[in-house]
Amino acid sequence: MRILLLGANGQLGQELSHTLPSLGEVKVCGRSEVDLTNKHSIIEAVDAFKPEVIVNAAAYTAVDKAERERGLAFKVNAEAVGILASEAAKLDIWLIHYSTDYVFDGSKTEPYLEADTPNPINVYGESKLAGEQAIITSGCKHLIFRTTWVIGKDGHNFAKTILQLASERDTLSIINDQFGVPAAPALIAKVTNAAIEAIATARHWPSGIYHLAPHGKTTWYGIAQTLIQQAKEACLPLATNERDLQAITTADYPTSAKRPANSLLDTSKLEKQLKFNLPDWEDDFSLVVEGIIRELKAA
Ligand SMILES: NC(=O)c1ccc[n+]([C@@H]2O[C@H](COP(=O)([O-])OP(=O)(O)OC[C@H]3O[C@@H](n4cnc5c(N)ncnc54)[C@H](OP(=O)(O)O)[C@@H]3O)[C@@H](O)[C@H]2O)c1
Repeated sequence: MRILLLGANGQLGQELSHTLPSLGEVKVCGRSEVDLTNKHSIIEAVDAFKPEVIVNAAAYTAVDKAERERGLAFKVNAEAVGILASEAAKLDIWLIHYSTDYVFDGSKTEPYLEADTPNPINVYGESKLAGEQAIITSGCKHLIFRTTWVIGKDGHNFAKTILQLASERDTLSIINDQFGVPAAPALIAKVTNAAIEAIATARHWPSGIYHLAPHGKTTWYGIAQTLIQQAKEACLPLATNERDLQAITTADYPTSAKRPANSLLDTSKLEKQLKFNLPDWEDDFSLVVEGIIRELKAA
């Protein structure tokens, strides 16, 4: 399999740059090799490498900033994805792409199904939905993995921010009324590898959208509690204890972009395709925290 990986320096991209090479020849591209705001750069990369699968882990992910940078968010998350999709359609190759729970408005009380109607409430969500639609409209062979709250050991994320703040402050206020789960890049990469293996061996994996997240339900506050507890157990020096975490509401912490109150995704459709079970979020997240702590101690 010849695999073109885009967005190789992001949280997920870094993980995929380690896992994809077990499947074949991988051309690993960060922004400096392929800039998604540059149509020619995208087309040239595809023409030069002649991949059988394109894996697009690149995205404009600055949710609040997107409210002020609508044009750029759409250029990266929608226009560029449309170009990738039309290249994939032209060459009859697969496009594997990642989307987000933020395509939904969060008003549903149950976990979201792939068939539920999206209704994004922020610019980032609108741009990611436009990317999904561009792929579907192109008619290319595609897998769109909609995932949620990506937290890994590489790149910037909530866990690293909380550990940094907890080393400086003796109390932290964390939102406790947005429900979801963290998803480790390692899990998303494991599913991606399984999907590409299936494609390579002609095992049936229908094109479409698949929800990809660990099992369970928590909030940002719940994640922070688990994180601080594990960090304390590992003797990481922190000024904040679990009991010093204050649960607050979304209304207490206004941000430029609105966030859905419910980010939970029903993953039954994906699990029918997989030969392994998706983990509970605590187990998935605990491995990530171990990795972050190991790196902090080594630094
Ligand atoms: N993060 C989350 O909580 C979350 C939740 C749900 C879904 N997702 C989706 O999951 C996927 C992976 O997210 P992630 O957390 O790995 O994101 P990330 O860490 O923010 O990485 C995104 C990558 O995209 C690259 N990029 C941005 N603009 C680009 C451009 N114009 N040309 C080329 N590359 C560009 C960035 O390059 P630089 O390194 O040069 O900046 C970065 O390496 C994305 O599709 C995202 O929408 C993420």
